[in-house]
Amino acid sequence: MRRDKLVVGNWKMNGIASSNSSLLGGIRDKLGGLDEGKAAVCVPFPYLQQAKEALSGSPISLGAQNVSEQDMGAFTGEVSAKMLADFDVKFCIVGHSERRSLYSESSNVVALKAEMLLKQDITPIICVGETLDERDGGMAFEVVREQLRVVLEKIGPKGVDRSVIAYEPVWAIGTGRVASPEQAQEVHAVLRDLVGSSDKNTASKVRILYGGSVKPENADDLFAMEDIDGGLIGGASLKVEDFAAICAAVV
Ligand code: PGA
Repeated sequence: MRRDKLVVGNWKMNGIASSNSSLLGGIRDKLGGLDEGKAAVCVPFPYLQQAKEALSGSPISLGAQNVSEQDMGAFTGEVSAKMLADFDVKFCIVGHSERRSLYSESSNVVALKAEMLLKQDITPIICVGETLDERDGGMAFEVVREQLRVVLEKIGPKGVDRSVIAYEPVWAIGTGRVASPEQAQEVHAVLRDLVGSSDKNTASKVRILYGGSVKPENADDLFAMEDIDGGLIGGASLKVEDFAAICAAVV
């Protein structure tokens, strides 16, 4: 089955209003001709309104980087899925490895977050990925399978059908050390298989992005692989030229 490719920028905790303004303006100028639904940027919470306004009328969708697993109430510092919906957020990253490792987010919490987003019709981008030790120990498949299994169990194939999965090997994030297209493809196939064990149709439809040191120089080769449906881009999404060049690899 042919799946539409998608490129998502993950700005992480970078940018301030003035630099965002030129980045968003540049992206808009460069990618104005892209088809709707091919590209998104996940910005820090305080800049959702700025990004929403800057991208309005453009084919680039708005995304967030995190959400609370709670609905509402006394959760100081948290941001709910309903709040994100107020800004017309289309995508939200959950379970990024930085959240798993630095903020102790478990797969159970990731599953609850995905569920909250789906209730608001926001597409979760469910991240999974193994560390270098886990890969070297021959555990990569097992680790990502278990991370996805917990979420799949919670939201079911119907929920996965409305989500995007991202495979991001921890050793490739921000390191300049990219997984080879074959290494990534192998894991993407494992993830698709796992989804297929509960629903074949969802497995053939769900988009699985690769993330970890994607650059204009390697995007074409990665995105050409059968089960790689685009990318989740960190560092390179902060540079207009690089992000635009990566997006050009999905058209
Ligand atoms: P990177 O980050 O492209 O800078 O490696 C990817 C990510 O963490 O989403």
